[in-house]
Amino acid sequence: MTRFDAKVAFVTGGAQGFGAAFCRSLVTEGASVVVADIDETRAENTATELREAGFEALAVHCDVADENAVAGAVARAVDAFGGIDILINNAGLHLTRYNQPFSSMPREDVRALFDVNVFGIVNTSIACLEAMRSRGGGTIVNVSSMAAYNPITAYGVSKLTVRALTIALAHDFASAGIRCNAIAPGLIGTDSALADLPQAFVDSIVEDRQLVHRLGRTDDIVAMMLYLCSDESSFVTGETFKVSGGTPLWI
Ligand SMILES: NC(=O)c1ccc[n+]([C@@H]2O[C@H](COP(=O)([O-])OP(=O)(O)OC[C@H]3O[C@@H](n4cnc5c(N)ncnc54)[C@H](O)[C@@H]3O)[C@@H](O)[C@H]2O)c1
Repeated sequence: MTRFDAKVAFVTGGAQGFGAAFCRSLVTEGASVVVADIDETRAENTATELREAGFEALAVHCDVADENAVAGAVARAVDAFGGIDILINNAGLHLTRYNQPFSSMPREDVRALFDVNVFGIVNTSIACLEAMRSRGGGTIVNVSSMAAYNPITAYGVSKLTVRALTIALAHDFASAGIRCNAIAPGLIGTDSALADLPQAFVDSIVEDRQLVHRLGRTDDIVAMMLYLCSDESSFVTGETFKVSGGTPLWI
């Protein structure tokens, strides 16, 4: 018996990085997963890897910024698996290009950032509401960031909005039996983050800003995600949890 037997999980940005790690851990715990990503090829590769390992997985092309595309992707998931119990709002734009003050960014980049990081969560959560309500409820986990605690860039503001959205959706969806929480990761060594950041910057975060002096791993975030999706957290909703090696600790 595993924690998510007969459950269906819809993971945005599921093709790589955190998203793929979330998919791998959820199937291991018994769930069927929907790998929803704008990168169709990578999503299909991830789903194929899971199916070849004997798990239930479906890749769906999905741009979370596009309300109609999201509705279509959710409908495909429901057709395939009968409903949705777990929604992981992980897809996000996060590279240095978006980690800039508003005055340094082309307005189209700001718009794209908020379309994905903020509207993406609204689109996907609303699209999944009935599919979750009809199963008697479920859980949503949003991926914020430690940047939300010092929101001096457009990215930080988008991720602070994710914390606020987590509270709003927890209220909005409570009567449907849906809990909504968020994770605020510190620097985690996904391929995309490491390719984007100079090694000296990564070292300075680990050595000078964290209390736990090792680079964060996807497993650190996976563990929190599994807790927030499980019945162990059945009394927890509307919260954002930092997973950052203690970077930095503010009240
Ligand atoms: N890696 C870190 O250190 C770190 C720290 C804090 C927060 N985060 C957040 O975690 C999440 C995942 O980070 P990651 O490092 O795994 O990123 P990543 O760039 O490796 O993966 C992101 C995935 O999202 C997909 N995606 C992008 N835009 C999309 C869209 N419009 N619709 C659907 N899918 C889309 C990409 O194709 C990709 O598969 C992001 O929300 C990021 O902001 C990451």
